[in-house]
Amino acid sequence: MSKRHPIIAGNWKMNKIVREAQDYAGKLLARVGGVTDVDVVVCAPFTALGTLKDELEESVIHIGAQDLFWESAGAFTGEISAEMLVDAACTYVIVGHSERREILRETDEDIAKKVKAALKAGLTPILCVGENLVQREEGRALAIVRGQVEKDLADLPPEDLKRVVIAYEPLWAIGTGKTSSNQDAQDMCAAIRATIAGISGTVAEEVNILYGGSVKANNIAELMTQPDIDGALVGGASLDAGGFAQLIENALASL
Ligand code: PGA
Repeated sequence: MSKRHPIIAGNWKMNKIVREAQDYAGKLLARVGGVTDVDVVVCAPFTALGTLKDELEESVIHIGAQDLFWESAGAFTGEISAEMLVDAACTYVIVGHSERREILRETDEDIAKKVKAALKAGLTPILCVGENLVQREEGRALAIVRGQVEKDLADLPPEDLKRVVIAYEPLWAIGTGKTSSNQDAQDMCAAIRATIAGISGTVAEEVNILYGGSVKANNIAELMTQPDIDGALVGGASLDAGGFAQLIENALASL
């Protein structure tokens, strides 16, 4: 079991209108509104953040966004800054999710700028890294993930580096019902920690590393018992408030 304070973050992706977000927040609060042994985070679309602020700002449940832009303000039509997210009561933001890397062509240079902007504004970035199936089959998974970590976290001083949360999400496990084996997930999370130690030895033990990719209520406990896995980033299984609450309760029971 990990020494770090675990995090279970839900990623709604492009789902839920305002009314659904409000309903969800009420249900989640009723079940896990008293949980402090795990940081519970709900990463919602921008349009639902105002509602989540109203419903959750005073609670222990953290609000997160799914992306941000690296500039603070100005002529960047369609973009949202870190400062705007802070104003919407966000404390977390997902950065570099594989869907944004693949579909929206985000580069490691873009992602590094976003990580820095999030940290500067006081947000906790959840940096997503992970290999695709071809890369894994060719034996390149470790090199790919290590390269992402090194490029996306380049030039961060140790005091910033230790505030970053990393989510290891193998692309072939996202939304597919296939999970990495516990051992493979642990091995990659340990390798990520070793990579951080290579960047700045002193902080590696403090960095939270999550696993993501078809995490469900029935597999969270085994993942949580791995020494380098400090929680999970949960997509599909976070969409139902009751199901997500059950997943969080199962994670708690495994601590
Ligand atoms: P999934 O998504 O849990 O539906 O596999 C995880 C993610 O993409 O963050």
